[in-house]
Amino acid sequence: MPKNREAFRLDRFLSNQLNISRNDAKELIKKRLVTVNGQAAKLFDMKIDPERDTVASEGNEVVYRKHIYIMLNKPAGVICATKDRLTETVLELIPPELRRQGLFPAGRLDKDTEGFALITDDGVFAHEILSPKKHVDKKYFAVLEKPAKESDVEAFASGMEIDGGDVCMPAVLEITDNPSEVYITLREGMFHQVKRMAEAVGNKVTYLKRVQIGGLRLDENLAVGECREILHNEIEKIYAKK
Ligand code: URA
Repeated sequence: MPKNREAFRLDRFLSNQLNISRNDAKELIKKRLVTVNGQAAKLFDMKIDPERDTVASEGNEVVYRKHIYIMLNKPAGVICATKDRLTETVLELIPPELRRQGLFPAGRLDKDTEGFALITDDGVFAHEILSPKKHVDKKYFAVLEKPAKESDVEAFASGMEIDGGDVCMPAVLEITDNPSEVYITLREGMFHQVKRMAEAVGNKVTYLKRVQIGGLRLDENLAVGECREILHNEIEKIYAKK
């Protein structure tokens, strides 16, 4: 195998891809239910090249995905964390067929914020989409206590100072036909940033939903609490400007 290709132990590969324990993977192999390139596998630690070898378990091909990317329409009341003793986390909303070891939310939405939460096991990708240097904007829909003013658009665009002395990067405020409903596009993700920006112009957010990450919109077919895998070409959209 070429040096830069990854080799996996068969039991580890099955455990990762099927989201089962190592022991369950070994059990499948022991029962001769796993084939590699059509031959029943005998060894737990048989080395496989996931990009070349065809592995099947109980007759079904185990399609290799190095990483997984999930779009969740996060409900209010759920937190962006991997585990919590008291509060439901976004990971608990992921159905078993999409679960894997190492999943985490890429970025945090507040407990009361709804909308597009991205869950993945790809740390490099998460770092990239969160880094302001990569220019992956996040767009939010917000309902405000009071109508937004035209002067707020300028304040958001100019890089305002918010409470605690943090200075924001320039952001886009779009006022809809109903001036209490706005879209806000940010390049960074400071703690409670949208809420603090609204407060800096004398207003208050009463409802907040993330609707877009980079060029990828939250799928309108996802009900609140539902999720689906993000397809390969959609990952490219995340990096696209709009
Ligand atoms: N800004 C906020 O204030 N809250 C969020 O959840 C996301 C952005």
